[in-house]
Amino acid sequence: MRDATRLKVVHRQRVLRHGDAEPAPSFVRGAHPTRVLASAADGWQRLLETEYESVVISSWMTAALARLAAPLDLLGAFGRVVEDEIRHVDVCAQMVDALGGQPLVPSGALPPLPGGLERDSESEFETVSGLVGFFCVFEFLSALVFHQALEAAADELPRWALGEIHRDEAFHGAFGFEAARHFVPAWSEDRRVRLARRVEAEVARFEQRLGGPLPAEAALAPLSPEVTALEQLGLLSPPHLLTTFYAGVAGQLVPRLLELGIPVELKVDLARSDS
Ligand SMILES: [Fe+2]
Ligand SMILES: [Fe+2]
Repeated sequence: MRDATRLKVVHRQRVLRHGDAEPAPSFVRGAHPTRVLASAADGWQRLLETEYESVVISSWMTAALARLAAPLDLLGAFGRVVEDEIRHVDVCAQMVDALGGQPLVPSGALPPLPGGLERDSESEFETVSGLVGFFCVFEFLSALVFHQALEAAADELPRWALGEIHRDEAFHGAFGFEAARHFVPAWSEDRRVRLARRVEAEVARFEQRLGGPLPAEAALAPLSPEVTALEQLGLLSPPHLLTTFYAGVAGQLVPRLLELGIPVELKVDLARSDS
């Protein structure tokens, strides 16, 4: 449910970024085939679910950082991420509504909360590894993907929604790298190697979430008219998502992780990243 209590005034102010946000452009449903509308509503519902997951993860991550006595500026920045992610869920819900779907908040299993958070404990390793996996891998790479989806979208409403989300996502990965810098460089080599293996697994999980890895023929196959119609509604096809992903991993993610002292070994098919 959205706007269910008297606090809706507070929530709406934040969704509208205290008057700074552009109002949502109108959308003419009749201008699109029914099948495309249904697939697009589905695609935006999936995005809503990943944004909701970001609310859950960024909020407990903020609480965990507070319990690890992280500097207040880190907490302030992560508090902003929580607010951003709640707004993103609302923006996705507006898209699902406009496309004729029924936006739903997921009710699946949630990631467990770590207990006994003390500096240099195994729980600190778990929390900071989770933070690096979520912010430096998922958030950082999804900002690149949102940017590409924005470039490909033709309709005004998805361009607005993607713009609202991307303006925040562009910072979230960077916040993750700053937070990691507070902990990781002081870790033993053994811990950093363990973290590197975690990060490699997260990168593979992100690739799967985008629909990869794809056989080489699929990456080169021409796009069907329905796939093109969905891209115009803000939903990129797996080959396009993966091209951005491979380029982002090789060109940006790996050098940043190495700079933090995380010895990742990621073999990215560079031929695919510049196709
Ligand atoms: Fe988000
Ligand atoms: Fe985010």
